[in-house]
Amino acid sequence: MSDNQASLTADGKSIEMPVRSGTIGPDVIDIRKLYGQTGLFTYDPGFTSTASCDSAITYIDGEEGVLLHRGYPIGQLAEHSTFMEVSYLLLNGELPSPAQLDTFSHTITRHTMVHEQLSSFFSGFRRDAHPMAIMCGVVGALSAFYHDSTDVADPEHRKISSHRLIAKIPTIAAMAYKYSVGQPFVYPRNDLSYTGNFLRMTFGVPAEEYEVVPAVERAMDRIFILHADHEQNASTSTVRLAGSSGANPFACIAAGIACLWGPAHGGANEAALNMLKEIGTPDKIPEYIARAKDKNDPFRLMGFGHRVYKNYDPRATVMQKTVREVFDALKVSDPLFETALRLEEIALNDPYFVEKKLFPNVDFYSGIILSAIGFPTTMFTVLFALARTVGWVAQWNEMISDPGQKIGRPRQLYTGPAARDYTPLDQR
Ligand code: SDX
Repeated sequence: MSDNQASLTADGKSIEMPVRSGTIGPDVIDIRKLYGQTGLFTYDPGFTSTASCDSAITYIDGEEGVLLHRGYPIGQLAEHSTFMEVSYLLLNGELPSPAQLDTFSHTITRHTMVHEQLSSFFSGFRRDAHPMAIMCGVVGALSAFYHDSTDVADPEHRKISSHRLIAKIPTIAAMAYKYSVGQPFVYPRNDLSYTGNFLRMTFGVPAEEYEVVPAVERAMDRIFILHADHEQNASTSTVRLAGSSGANPFACIAAGIACLWGPAHGGANEAALNMLKEIGTPDKIPEYIARAKDKNDPFRLMGFGHRVYKNYDPRATVMQKTVREVFDALKVSDPLFETALRLEEIALNDPYFVEKKLFPNVDFYSGIILSAIGFPTTMFTVLFALARTVGWVAQWNEMISDPGQKIGRPRQLYTGPAARDYTPLDQR
């Protein structure tokens, strides 16, 4: 990494700050001494120009639409890898050998069961509770079951907690779905793949054998790969900030799930399909395009735009291709796919979207696939959380293992009243 200097002059004060370079991507100005030497803060709500950490896990080039996991392009991983292998890669930094992958898969598989008492948490929710509300509650409650592994300073505790979270999140996600439809929970099976196990726990019933459809298993596994990690997005930053206080990993992941739920973030996949259903047929598209462009209308095209991608989200490319594969495998079609393709075509030729560099993101097509597989829209963000758990866990481990790590504590620009004396009630 090459280092040089940046200088800042403000309020008659001048300061030299080191500029650091990463492997690839923008250099950073190290401002850690700024306040101490000038009494000034930087100001960056939404962190549009702020690097919050060093990280070696995921790299995004928003201008070029590039996404790398430990250097490997997302398109190659989606084409050739599996979610278990990508999980190993994110956690350990290198692709596993066959023996390493077998051991990792075996370990994860044997942590997929949850404590039997965890099942009783579900009955406290209304049957129509949003599954993301259940995920927030139940995942946070895991910390009540694993007092043996919440010492974040202990690498062995971090390892077993990481494996437990990656292994149990599909089981809990499937239980959230089963609870919402009033069907019995289905226990995991050790002879199935990670994704096959999840599909059977979700759609299997005790009354008959569940056959995993290989093409659906492959598509679901690829969707998990596409959602596994994405640099310092809002929910990952939430996990890092929660973890920086020393909170246990189960609580940190529950915080990440809560943040992901928002429609501007992981909730966009549910919102995007609901939007397509509201639009209905292609002839209604112009009306919604106009609304999306109207400053006085809060409506936005869900599944479009991104804080970092100012080009096509490479995950959306893979997602669109996967729609056709799932339709062929299940011999189904969905008119909303045609509406989505037409909406994309119109938007990408509209000056408003072109000038603001608004392209489809990972959430634009995912709902169509998930709906075809049989998931209700309320489960879409749960599936995003399921896949992103490995990314959150990898980023949490990276932060906790950093010897320079300290609690995150941003400052502010104070705009409230200056100091003033209390006025007694009888004088107000
Ligand atoms: C995810 O960060 C990540 O990596 C997230 C994620 C991940 O993997 O973790 O990639 C997953 O969250 C994908 C994004 C899902 N969200 C949506 O699809 C919701 C719709 N998109 C937007 O709300 C918006 O694009 C954001 C929130 C995604 C990004 O917003 P920014 O970067 O804060 O940009 P902005 O809101 O300031 O928008 C810039 C301009 C604005 O217009 P002006 O005020 O400049 O005139 O573009 C407009 C916005 O009004 N705009 C849109 C739009 N998105 C932005 N206009 C219409 N439709 C949209 N979708």
